[in-house]
Amino acid sequence: MYQYTDFDRQFVHSRAAQYRDQLERNLAGQLSDDDFRPLRLQNGWYVQRYAPMLRVAVPYGELASSQLRVLARIAREYDQPSEQVFQKAQSTQAGFGTHKLPTGYGHFTTRQNVQFNWIALDKSADVMDLLASVNMHGIQTSGNCIRNITSDERAGIAVDEIADPRPFCEILRQWSTLHPEFTFLPRKFKIAVSGAREDRAATAWHDVGLHVQRDRSGAVGFKVLVGGGMGRTPVIASIIREFLPWHQILNYLEAVVRVYNRWGRRDNMYKARIKILVKAEGRRFTDEVETEYQQIVTVDGAPHTITQDELDRVTASFVPPTLDKSAPAAGVLASSWSKNDRTEYTRWLKQNVAPHKNPDLRAVTLSFKRLGYAPGDATADQLETAAELADYFSAGEARVTHDQNLLLPWVLSEQLPELWRAARKAGFARSNVRLLTDMIACPGGDFCALANARSIPIAEAITERYQDMDELHDLGEIDLHISGCINSCGHHHSGHIGILGVDKDGREWYQVSLGGSDGSTLSGSSVAGKVIGPSFSASEVADVVEALLETYKSQRLAGETFIGAVRRIGLPPFRDAANRVRHETGNADEAHNIRLKTADALTD
Ligand code: HEM
Ligand code: SF4
Repeated sequence: MYQYTDFDRQFVHSRAAQYRDQLERNLAGQLSDDDFRPLRLQNGWYVQRYAPMLRVAVPYGELASSQLRVLARIAREYDQPSEQVFQKAQSTQAGFGTHKLPTGYGHFTTRQNVQFNWIALDKSADVMDLLASVNMHGIQTSGNCIRNITSDERAGIAVDEIADPRPFCEILRQWSTLHPEFTFLPRKFKIAVSGAREDRAATAWHDVGLHVQRDRSGAVGFKVLVGGGMGRTPVIASIIREFLPWHQILNYLEAVVRVYNRWGRRDNMYKARIKILVKAEGRRFTDEVETEYQQIVTVDGAPHTITQDELDRVTASFVPPTLDKSAPAAGVLASSWSKNDRTEYTRWLKQNVAPHKNPDLRAVTLSFKRLGYAPGDATADQLETAAELADYFSAGEARVTHDQNLLLPWVLSEQLPELWRAARKAGFARSNVRLLTDMIACPGGDFCALANARSIPIAEAITERYQDMDELHDLGEIDLHISGCINSCGHHHSGHIGILGVDKDGREWYQVSLGGSDGSTLSGSSVAGKVIGPSFSASEVADVVEALLETYKSQRLAGETFIGAVRRIGLPPFRDAANRVRHETGNADEAHNIRLKTADALTD
């Protein structure tokens, strides 16, 4: 794992101290709420429906077990609403899927961060101190700046890797943190880096995506994609450079962000993302970037060129750990297993265990997609257990995945049976990785002030219906993505099945789309899904999903995936099946108004 320098440590501690002073002045009435607002937002504190939402940055998803333990402590001690706040929040729950709102947990996000939903603002400085004790913070997790850099959760270990993206991510992190020129961009700016043949970082859906390549001479560089994003206008990023030598990425990105900073629409926040500029200007945008880049390289003297020494220095922090090979032999453990255990274990190996660059090792995904919990939620105890598993089986390291799970990157293959049993005991061994119930979902109307509809009860209804592992495995790999509004935090546009909460008469409805792709090998080139018709009520959504899947089952060719069948057959049979659900149930009327928009939410 990356080892933070003294500079990083001091910086994070001094920011926490500065924040404590700001909070104390606000609580004492010396700093108005309006003046305090940008200060807390700069540290990841958004006020949401019931309490501030804290977003903690996890650079390229890497978490040490010591950090997981601090996150567990924050969940246990601070992610706890007062009785009064909780009762008020719970009383807004009505209609479909009424459920007890979760408290005392952390939430893994699609951009490899961790969020908390209930921390009282007057405790926020204590939480910042705790985070700082393990080099963590929420700096640049909000506001119109360059956000946390994301990557492939299998960075540095994937068998199809061309170059480890983590040193580049780290260099980008250092460059973009408090970059004085890029602190007030027209809108937020998200970068993803993929170092493998398969794009597992959804690079085409980002403001900037860097996808590693080798040129004919074998030199490493990056394909540069710019202007991807979801929201109301889903756009696949354009390739503006087929091959950028690795040592030029900072100079080039400086040019890209500078052009955006200069020309991005500041007059209309809905048109302010770089995707709108790239779409509107087309070739002119690329030309402008090239001109700026040439200026930086020739006139300014290419100040940010990455030297081999610097790359080597940063790469040295990512040396693979030395592992203790004194694990129990697999055969001894396996001999006592029942037939059912063997079946489950075999399925787990297939879905949750990935090959590793080091043939003695495996990458294991702990599934945080299980009945009774929102996708990506981990309670304090579960975070603690994950830390123990990371210590015992993975050299103390875990990674947050784009799909809202945790991955253990350094597992000895002889220890797999023991890990499986320990993970099963903890509830993390469901063999559903990449299957239907391994869905992505945003917090939706249960917590988010921008939501049109709730996501969690929808995720729960579908999860409940697909508990049978035989059926789930028979359906095969499917990306199901749910967002509570058009901001698309749940990436519904890139789901094979996408579900979007929409507002009709101030009530909860859901639009369903089909055929989206995040750009992974299974899904093919990145593309936005197509809406299959008017929206459905909450109680119809699980039936609609079932109708889509039954259509797939009845029409699939041998070995054909769901997305393969959608592409081959086209939308009409799926759309017709979904619409029959509407006719049969007649739009049962559990929809209700959950809207409560606050200005803060718009600063995300
Ligand atoms: C409850 C707190 C949250 C709020 C208020 C919020 C708000 C927003 C807003 C306003 C946008 C659109 C910004 C724009 O296009 O300019 C956005 C985008 C996004 N959010 Fe969130 N969000 C929240 C939680 C989350 C969570 C939990 C996740 C991950 C599961 C997430 C992932 C994303 C992603 C990936 C995007 C970018 C989508 C794109 O490509 O356009 N957000 N969020
Ligand atoms: S998609 Fe909408 S409802 Fe979901 S977290 Fe984002 S802003 Fe909130």
